[in-house]
Amino acid sequence: MRAVDVIIKKREKGELTSDELKFFVDGFTTGEIPDYQVSAWAMAVLLNGMTPRETVALTLAMAHSGEILDLSDVVDIAVDKHSSGGVGDKTTLVVLPVVAACGLPVGKMSGRGLGFSGGTLDKIESIPGFRVNLSTDEFKQQLKDIGIVLAGQSLDLAPADGKLYALRDVTGTVQSIPLIASSIMSKKIAAGAQAILLDVKVGLGAFMETLAEARALSGLMVDIGKLAGRQVVTLLSDMNQPLGQAVGNTLEVLEAVDTLKGAGPADFREHCLHVSAHMLVLGRRAPDLIAGRRMAELAISSGTALKKFCLLVVAQDGDVSFVDDTRKFPVAQFIEVVKANQSGYLAEVNARIIGEAAVTLGAGRAKKGDPVDHAVGFIIHRKVGDFVEKNQPLFTIHANDKAKQAEARETVMSAFKWSAQPVPSLPLFYS
Ligand code: URA
Repeated sequence: MRAVDVIIKKREKGELTSDELKFFVDGFTTGEIPDYQVSAWAMAVLLNGMTPRETVALTLAMAHSGEILDLSDVVDIAVDKHSSGGVGDKTTLVVLPVVAACGLPVGKMSGRGLGFSGGTLDKIESIPGFRVNLSTDEFKQQLKDIGIVLAGQSLDLAPADGKLYALRDVTGTVQSIPLIASSIMSKKIAAGAQAILLDVKVGLGAFMETLAEARALSGLMVDIGKLAGRQVVTLLSDMNQPLGQAVGNTLEVLEAVDTLKGAGPADFREHCLHVSAHMLVLGRRAPDLIAGRRMAELAISSGTALKKFCLLVVAQDGDVSFVDDTRKFPVAQFIEVVKANQSGYLAEVNARIIGEAAVTLGAGRAKKGDPVDHAVGFIIHRKVGDFVEKNQPLFTIHANDKAKQAEARETVMSAFKWSAQPVPSLPLFYS
């Protein structure tokens, strides 16, 4: 079999067999099939799609490209969560410690930034020293010892997805339902999750812009889960405007820590409580969502969730003094509060434009392996539906480059659409 034939078959809209997909995924994992062929193939998949059968075969090939973790000797039920990617989505940084503090151990394998959407690993690495590269033994031991792990894909788990994910980020091949579904589900299957909560984002700042696309992605992931013998629950959440206020790595960690300390933006806190409640029900720690939510609220108000977060930071060699005193985080050189240039109701705060502007500032990558600038990003002060007076603060730019700061000012200003008439606020979740 030749890689080029697999690419041509997909280019010609053919249905790849399980053997062809396994050959391609294995070749990519070992390095025999180079990045440029995988990029061409990914573009063909993006343009021509995949049947559900192909998507399942791709998922299983990627899940089996490395080890499959068995956590049954460490936890009674392995529950995991994953978001399909958004702007300002720092949910994992709050939900993991909240549910762990409620007695539900959770070991999560997260990703880096992808296109305009941020990545949990890039965010958590804002904490000096925090190590995301854990061995399988370390992962299991830490889960057993403290009930919380946040790791990257350098574990020998779904290495094919790790490589493909980095390539998709810089080749314009992120927005493909089969590639997203197989990316998420291969990681979850490899990480040994028995029950999985998927937060599928929908809107301008999500890979799925319409509810129909989000439902298709969610249905596909539920089906893959069933075939792999995993329980999958999906939520559809709004990503038209950024979640919370902070967009950018350190800024998002600060907002997550604030939320764990009982403060934080109302929409973000509410989102985290809802996701936590679902996880607690899935993990059989709460009988229903109301009880789960109460447990999550208590974990925050009692400080036990923050303690869990600190335990996580210490266990993975992060400097926990930065969590205790967040003023220690390095700040960007240029901080500018941009004020509203008119009065009116906000009709749109375009998360896609803001996410792309954050990448341009340096919060994300232009090329595979580029470093990220942890300090840069935005605080978005207002939400859709708010009435804003002229000259009130609209957003704050954190930049390390004057020219990029000026570009970001223009770009992010264009993310705001105004209305003279009242505009309803956006829902957090869709049914
Ligand atoms: N999250 C992932 O892990 N993979 C994707 O492709 C998109 C979001």
